[in-house]
Amino acid sequence: MLLSDDTLEKIRAEISRYPQPRGALLTALHVAREELRGLSPELFAELAPLFGLKTREVAEVASFYSLFNQPPARAIIQVCTNLPCCLNGARAVVRALEARLGIRAGSATADGRFALVEVECLGSCASAPVVQVNQQAYLENVTPEFAAGLTVSPEAALGARQPAAVNSWFPPEVAGYLLPPGDARWLELGSYGAQGGWQALARAAAMAPGDLCKLVQESGLRGRGGAGFVTGMKWTFMPPKDGRPRYLAVNADESEPGTFKDRQIMERNPFLLIEGIMIAAHAILADAAFIYVRGEYVDAYRILRQAIADAYQAGILGEQARALGRRLDVHVQRGAGAYICGEESGMLESMEGRKGQPRKRPPFPAQRGLWDQPTTVDNVETLSHLPAIVQNGAQWFKTQGAEKSSGHTLFGVSGHVKRPGVIELPLGTRLSDIIFKHCGGLPEGRRLKAIVPGGVSMPVLKAEQADVAMDHESLRAAGTLLGTGGVIVLDDRSCMVRAALVVARFFAHESCGQCTQCREGTGWTLKILRRIENGQGKPEDLDAIADCCFFMDGKCICALADGAAWAARAFLTQFRGEFERHIKEGRCPFPESFEV
Ligand SMILES: Cc1cc2nc3c(=O)[nH]c(=O)nc-3n(C[C@H](O)[C@H](O)[C@H](O)COP(=O)(O)O)c2cc1C
Ligand code: SF4
Ligand code: FES
Repeated sequence: MLLSDDTLEKIRAEISRYPQPRGALLTALHVAREELRGLSPELFAELAPLFGLKTREVAEVASFYSLFNQPPARAIIQVCTNLPCCLNGARAVVRALEARLGIRAGSATADGRFALVEVECLGSCASAPVVQVNQQAYLENVTPEFAAGLTVSPEAALGARQPAAVNSWFPPEVAGYLLPPGDARWLELGSYGAQGGWQALARAAAMAPGDLCKLVQESGLRGRGGAGFVTGMKWTFMPPKDGRPRYLAVNADESEPGTFKDRQIMERNPFLLIEGIMIAAHAILADAAFIYVRGEYVDAYRILRQAIADAYQAGILGEQARALGRRLDVHVQRGAGAYICGEESGMLESMEGRKGQPRKRPPFPAQRGLWDQPTTVDNVETLSHLPAIVQNGAQWFKTQGAEKSSGHTLFGVSGHVKRPGVIELPLGTRLSDIIFKHCGGLPEGRRLKAIVPGGVSMPVLKAEQADVAMDHESLRAAGTLLGTGGVIVLDDRSCMVRAALVVARFFAHESCGQCTQCREGTGWTLKILRRIENGQGKPEDLDAIADCCFFMDGKCICALADGAAWAARAFLTQFRGEFERHIKEGRCPFPESFEV
């Protein structure tokens, strides 16, 4: 036997929490990997019978997830090289580590002490560049010098600490209701109750579920996970209650590059999310909620687990959940490094212990969701608006934002600004105010060139468009979308071909490969952009990129392909002159640009 009795016990306890054993498979792989410092065919064979699976089925699931496929080493140093980190010097960090370790990223030292890996956005873009060693807390604002210190010994790397100061806030003129006031790291149960927590739950529980759905629909709350669908409307898709269990699946995967807002709620205000979950569970008559947290968010996972344990202890959750007077369970699951597991049906697959490949729809989750039961999927931030809506009413909520985009939102701002962070502001706030008023503008001597307004899937805007109001309608009219509200700012020295290239590299890496157009289109887009950036582009390459976008957009199982197409197409059309210059001059004309 490879696993200790303790670990086996932990795995069995996890299995008992799910309707089907497979629900605990990812957790089991995490726990086993931590004990054995790696995964192996022998381990898969040992785990398989616990889940009623064949060895190859366990191996197949493990093969899908980045965190289970890193070179084995005592200290695995993972450097984020997505756009906001590259804008802040991530490449120099990778170079310093490669030089010190004598290896290229993607490999391990011969003695097995270190591995060096480039990873996609870690969801901490305001403190870029970000590094994570094994599954430890993030190292933030990392310099090449600090990174070099990690290579002294695996123990030094594992013991290193470099947390950023709290970087989420609401300005004095905004009555924030999502973030806790001040710079408290996290609001504990006692403080949450003292500040008015749980009053909304009591009020919601006194309402009929149908009336609660109506209230949320009237408030105009739209999903904050990226698509902006009207939440109350989505809830009405749940079938009438029958004998089957019903679930709320909470999307805490947060992997869209430039997006790091849900983490602020989970780490700083976890009971707000729990109260929101309980209100939603009452509205849709859910028997249990499952929160799917991305694997890299170790602090959010730990804090949420603690908060949920505290809530059980206090009788808020469990057999006679407070106010609801019936059983309600909330569970947390961990992902394992796959952006596609944020797509709702990919997430459901992953929650069931499978590869996170999106499902064809119909059936939609409300008809056949988690373990084939009626399920509603809501984003962390979306649910966290519910206590304020129930307390203050639908009309109040509508006055908090723009006409068809009600309420506040958490804008995550990263890239070339003096004060990056997550800021709670009303929807409809001008983009220029976010950048210049709230984030201090660009570093001295630099001018604004481009802005990605809502995570890298959303079409880039030019500096001249920065006066746009940040709400669904205004952004659509400007040719882009609000997405996750993750704003990435690029200054005048930035090369737009490089920016497009980093984004394309991300999509090529994260495509789950089911649809030919997406698998091939993301790969070809990346290949062509690399060629152009390296000075080997041909004039016909620009049409080839446009063709890839055409074949990906709207023709695949899920919207990852759409996002890949929108992003590449927007860089090309908004900054076509720069692409043409690369081809004509046979080199990148921006020597001072960030490196990729
Ligand atoms: C490729 C892809 C990745 C996504 N990632 C996330 C994510 O990390 N978190 C999230 O809440 N929604 C994500 N979504 C959107 C979800 O599919 C879904 O719309 C959302 O979770 C619904 O919750 P909401 O209505 O509260 O926004 C993603 C969608 C796609 C296509
Ligand atoms: S569009 Fe891409 S990510 Fe989505 S299912 Fe198809 S191949 Fe997978
Ligand atoms: S944390 Fe590196 S890009 Fe987001």
